[in-house]
Order: sequence, then structure tokens, then C-alpha cells
Amino acid sequence: MSNSIDEILKQAKLSKEDVITLLQTDKIDRNKIFTHAAKVKADNVGKKVYYRGLIEMSNICSKNCYYCGIRMDNKKAERYDISDKEILDAVKFAHESNYGSLVLQAGEITSPTFTKRISNLLKQIKEISNNELGITISLGEQPEEVYQEWFDSGAHRYLLRIESSNPDLYYKIHPKNKKHDFETRVNCLKSLQKVGYQTGTGVMIGLPFQTYDDLASDLFFMRDFDIDMCGMGPFIEHHDTPLYQYNDLLMPIEDRFTLTLKMIALLRIIMKDINIAAATALQAIDPIGREKAIKVGANIIMPNVTPGMYRDSYKLYENKPCTDEEAADCTNCMEMRIGITGDDIGYGEWGDSKHYAKRRQQI
Ligand code: 5AD
Ligand code: SF4
Ligand code: FES
Repeated sequence: MSNSIDEILKQAKLSKEDVITLLQTDKIDRNKIFTHAAKVKADNVGKKVYYRGLIEMSNICSKNCYYCGIRMDNKKAERYDISDKEILDAVKFAHESNYGSLVLQAGEITSPTFTKRISNLLKQIKEISNNELGITISLGEQPEEVYQEWFDSGAHRYLLRIESSNPDLYYKIHPKNKKHDFETRVNCLKSLQKVGYQTGTGVMIGLPFQTYDDLASDLFFMRDFDIDMCGMGPFIEHHDTPLYQYNDLLMPIEDRFTLTLKMIALLRIIMKDINIAAATALQAIDPIGREKAIKVGANIIMPNVTPGMYRDSYKLYENKPCTDEEAADCTNCMEMRIGITGDDIGYGEWGDSKHYAKRRQQI
């Protein structure tokens, strides 16, 4: 077995069977994958981590994804919507802390008022930061005109997870209706690319009903879609969601964690020059989960800059880290954490996806 893992890793291109084999490796063999991925990272994007200060601006959501703690029908979730002033204060904090970039994230709302509000915020962020802060947004499915308006207002990266690239599995974890349509999701990703965003997607790992074949397909979906960025993390069950009824089907949480690290490492091997985030959900399972992800291929981290009083309410999953902290606590903590990985921090840099730059040159 050991030899064959070495052989597989030496190949220029991995087949689906190879990926499935690699996803199922035991401890000794998986360390070979991790070592290989770390080298691919160092050779292609360098041993450097970029910050995206994360602002979770609102947990109000019009959707009902079966896995998510802030789904519309979860009456137990206490809803909040941070004021523009508080958002801009968080922006100033990120700018003064030299974070380089921001992520604006919220539950999914589609309305002309919301569109305008975001456009205004984007313009103000650019102004406050003298155009020094890069901006990623993660605001769900929207019409192409809205994506265009936000792009023109200053956002240049967009994150929209496909959650699973297998439509059958997609409909097991979402209601089957117009608001949760797999095709729409894929079309939104296409629109984002067309508008010109650095486009990011990702999946959850360790979902009920998910197979190794599904996960291998997810990696090839990302490759074939030619994405620029990825944020993927372990599925973490939430008591107040419909998917909780399938808890018995889940693999142990430690295994979901390890499988996520393998997915990150394999994606780094397959897509050498994209940006890969060390998902916050990893830290809900292992206190140094994000650092482990950086070691095996991730190069983006999202320190939370949401005002502390709101953090506990943005609970997509249980055990979410940093909910008792304020932004400044995370800054100090994060610097120490990255120090341990041996990577440098790209303070004040946008840290754009190298893959995007190459993709644009080819057009
Ligand atoms: N476990 C892990 N990730 C989750 N997300 C939502 N709910 C969960 C959960 N229970 C992720 C989804 C979504 C992102 C904002 O958070 O992938 O795209
Ligand atoms: Fe809303 Fe996103 Fe949660 Fe789905 S995953 S319910 S769209 S916040
Ligand atoms: Fe938030 Fe450590 S990163 S407290």
C-alpha cells in the first residue's frame, strides 16, 4: 500500500480512483499526502498566509438549508443585523490592523434595499481604506445584475459554496424547491466568473449520505470549473436543524476533521495556485485545526472582526470558536498561531489568487 501511495503522488494527474484511494489513507500514508501538499504550496504560492477580516453582518436568512443553524425556520436563532456604523468600525479595525482584506458575509437576502445597502457599504469601505482593503463578499445567490453592481462598487472576490457537487446529495441537504435549486447555484457561479470576480466555492465534508466518490467528484468539480478560491470545512451537526435526525449516520467528528485536511491537501495538489481558506469550522473540532490546515496547503485565514456581542448569534454550527472574543483578541492570538505554522503573514497585502491572474492572462 505505502508504495502505491508514493506512486500515485508522483503522477502529474490524479484520476478519480487515485483520489478515492488517497481520501481513504491511514495515518502513515496520509502524512505522505500532507508532506507532498505542503511542498506544492511552498513551490507555487509560497509559505505565506493572507488575512481576510471576517464581518458577519447579519444572520437574517431567507433560506432553509437543512444543515444550518441560522436557517429561516429556526425560531431559536436570535436574529441581528449590525448597523452600518458598526460595520465601518470593524472595517477601520481591520484596516488599522493591516489585515489587507475583508470578507462581508450574511444570510441570504435578495431585495433592492439590500442590494443598495451593500453597494453603499462597499464604496465606503474603499473610501475609508484609501482603496487599500481588498474585499471578498459572501452574500449568496443573486441576479447577475446585482453581482455586477457589487463588483462595480468595489468587491472583487465572491464566495459561494456549492456545498456538494452531486445534485442528489444537494437535495438531501436542501429543500427541493425553487429557492434551493442546484442549477441556479451553478449558474450563479458562472455569472460570478463572467462578471469578473475571483470566484470561490467549496463543500462541506462528512455530510450524512456523502461518499468518497462524492468528495472526489467535488474536487474535480472545482478543477473543471476553474475556480480561483476555495473554502471548505467539516460538517458540524446543529441540534436545531432537520439534518440532525441523521446524526447516527455521521462518521466520528475527528474523522470528519482528518478527511477535511485530506481534501485541502488534495485540492492543493490538484489546483496548485488557487487560494484555499483554513475554515473556521476546523477550529470547532480541534483547537489548532486551522493551523493544521495551513500546514497541509491552506493559505488564507479569516480572523473574525465582527463586534463581540453579535458573534454568538452567527451560529451556523455548534462549538463555533472565538465567539467570546473581541477583534483585538483574535489579532494577537492569530499572529501567535500562524507563527507556530512557520508561515509568514501577508500583512497589508491583498493576497489575490495567483490562479485568477493566470486565468485572466489567457483570455
Ligand atoms: N456545519 C458546517 N458548515 C456549515 N455551514 C452551514 N451550516 C454548517 C454546518 N452545520 C457552511 C455552509 C455555508 C457556509 C456559510 O457555512 O457551507 O455555505
Ligand atoms: Fe442561509 Fe447560508 Fe445558512 Fe443556507 S447556509 S440557511 S443560505 S445562512
Ligand atoms: Fe479568535 Fe484565537 S483567533 S481568539
